[in-house]
Amino acid sequence: MWDFDEIVQRDKTDSVKYDLRTKLYGSKNIIPMWVADMDFKTPKFIVDDIKKRAEHEIYGYTIRNDSFFKSVIHWMNYKHNWQIKKSWISFSPGVVPAIALSILAYTKPGDKIIAQPPVYFPFFSSIKNNGRQLIYNQLKYDNGNYHFDFEDLKKKIDSRTKMILICNPHNPVGRVWLEEELTKLAEICLKNDILMISDEIHSDLIFEPNKHIPLASLSKEIADNTISTFAPSKTFNVAGLSSSVIIISNPKLKVAFDNYVNDLHIGFGNIFGNVALESAYFKGAEWLNALMDYLEGNIALVKKFIDKPGIKIKMHVPQSTYLLWLDFREYGLKDKELKKMLVQDAKIGLSPGELFGPGGEGFQRMNIACPREVLIKALNNLEKVFGS
Ligand SMILES: Cc1ncc(COP(=O)(O)O)c(C=O)c1O
Repeated sequence: MWDFDEIVQRDKTDSVKYDLRTKLYGSKNIIPMWVADMDFKTPKFIVDDIKKRAEHEIYGYTIRNDSFFKSVIHWMNYKHNWQIKKSWISFSPGVVPAIALSILAYTKPGDKIIAQPPVYFPFFSSIKNNGRQLIYNQLKYDNGNYHFDFEDLKKKIDSRTKMILICNPHNPVGRVWLEEELTKLAEICLKNDILMISDEIHSDLIFEPNKHIPLASLSKEIADNTISTFAPSKTFNVAGLSSSVIIISNPKLKVAFDNYVNDLHIGFGNIFGNVALESAYFKGAEWLNALMDYLEGNIALVKKFIDKPGIKIKMHVPQSTYLLWLDFREYGLKDKELKKMLVQDAKIGLSPGELFGPGGEGFQRMNIACPREVLIKALNNLEKVFGS
């Protein structure tokens, strides 16, 4: 019904992933497996709804109508068993902009903001470029898996610590945080009056039997101390349409956020982004199930490759996301040397682990949201270079 095997030319479409290859990797002749969008077509029901809107041929300022809000309420209930109210929903042109807006709205220059590396690196620039202090609370890596380091977190908190950026589920390590982990984290934050920004952009991409828990769904007290960010962009491959939803149940915090959005005059959003979001959240369930099956197949293929004798790359099968966190440390290479071998010899473009902050050294992030034929080619290339 949906053809995830179809290879779609993305070259010369102004695609970040394809058309920046020469700039970033020095050559166009690499398989791009870096930035987090997918090489699959956006589902047809979204494309059809966008075309229908486009045919009207007037693209003036628009509002988000009742049906937009209903789609968000429906999706949160259907997908995450979270009952939200229309009055909690705000808009942002993206999740990263929402993080930056939250930093501006709720903290002052010089305040300390915690991030938990290795983590999605725009968190760092959002904090530093807005004149706040970036404090690392590095994840613990034991038994081949990642955990919050609560003891380190408690030590890092002082009177200037005002905010924490939480990645739930976590990019790049693929963890889906458990209820007890999130509750413990939230308790520490509540006790110390630290506002929690929960980036839940990957929350629809969860592999069975894991279950995503929206941080703010844990209790009213936690909800009232949380800004939650969601978007259809990763799930339905519509990142270029710049539409995300921010869920804030605390009215005071919501007003402060909305004021920033309105002052910057970015609240209208994008007509086609609004259409795509509504279409995805009302019609996307079946397509998403098929996507998850395909992604699981791709991950199983990588696992089979990793398990081959002679391959020293390690991987913990992700609980979420199409981003694999590959551990190359057994090869004993410097990051620069590793990148050179990946680009020049294996001819694949991954995201270097050190970008994701402390704990990322020796790792590479691989985006496997591509047709299987492309993935097989990439794995064959890897084997030639990193096999025994
Ligand atoms: C954890 C995380 N947050 C945010 C984003 C980007 O969000 P946006 O494009 O809506 O700013 C990404 C994209 O890779 C991501 O992985």
